[in-house]
Amino acid sequence: MRCGAQAVIDDLFAGLDGDDGRRETLAEGAMILRGFVRARAQSLLAAVGEIAATAPFRHMLTPGGLRMSVAMSNCGGLGWVSDPRGYRYSPVDPENGRQWPAMPDSFVDLARSAAAEAGFADFTPDACLLNRYAAGSRLSLHQDRDEIDRGAPIVSVSLGLPAVFLFGGLKRSDSPARILLVHGDVVVWGGPSRLRYHGVQPIKAGRCPETGDCRINLTLRKAGPPGSA
Ligand code: SIN
Ligand code: FE2
Repeated sequence: MRCGAQAVIDDLFAGLDGDDGRRETLAEGAMILRGFVRARAQSLLAAVGEIAATAPFRHMLTPGGLRMSVAMSNCGGLGWVSDPRGYRYSPVDPENGRQWPAMPDSFVDLARSAAAEAGFADFTPDACLLNRYAAGSRLSLHQDRDEIDRGAPIVSVSLGLPAVFLFGGLKRSDSPARILLVHGDVVVWGGPSRLRYHGVQPIKAGRCPETGDCRINLTLRKAGPPGSA
């Protein structure tokens, strides 16, 4: 229970960093950190703009040849890509053969602190997928399973327009929870929840001061072998 001087101090810090400390456990190893990055959202979005200037958002093709409705880019040593050859991680941007932009320190810091807060110490991401959702864009239920190191959690950051996040079980047929994620929320899942199915319902049209008419999601992962940075 919070009371007295501690409550005042907590509220003061909540006001300063935008993280009001609300934590919601979704399952063992899965947690929502409400407002965790709200105070640093503008600088994160500025970094997204810089990354996109070098590695522009693009609509990748699924292995089945369909154009994904979410526009994607990457930063870090490895980037997630999809094309008719399949899903995989690539050290270079297939559009130009150059390395993906470096992962900003601010992304590494937030990933480490969010993972630690959710109970996963020493998380060092080597891949960050940037997802841009326009109105109507969606991501169907899937598992994140292209990473070699499943011991590391996934850290997923929501910026801009709200989304209904679907968080299911270990089988595709498990009916998912529907969770509203807003600007500044972070979801972490790992351990026994690492391979849970998840997705995003079609984004509702809207406008917000932070990103205008879209939602940006950062998904930070450890994609390479354990022990590599
Ligand atoms: C993802 O699963 O890659 C993205 C999830 C999200 O946009 O919230
Ligand atoms: Fe995912």
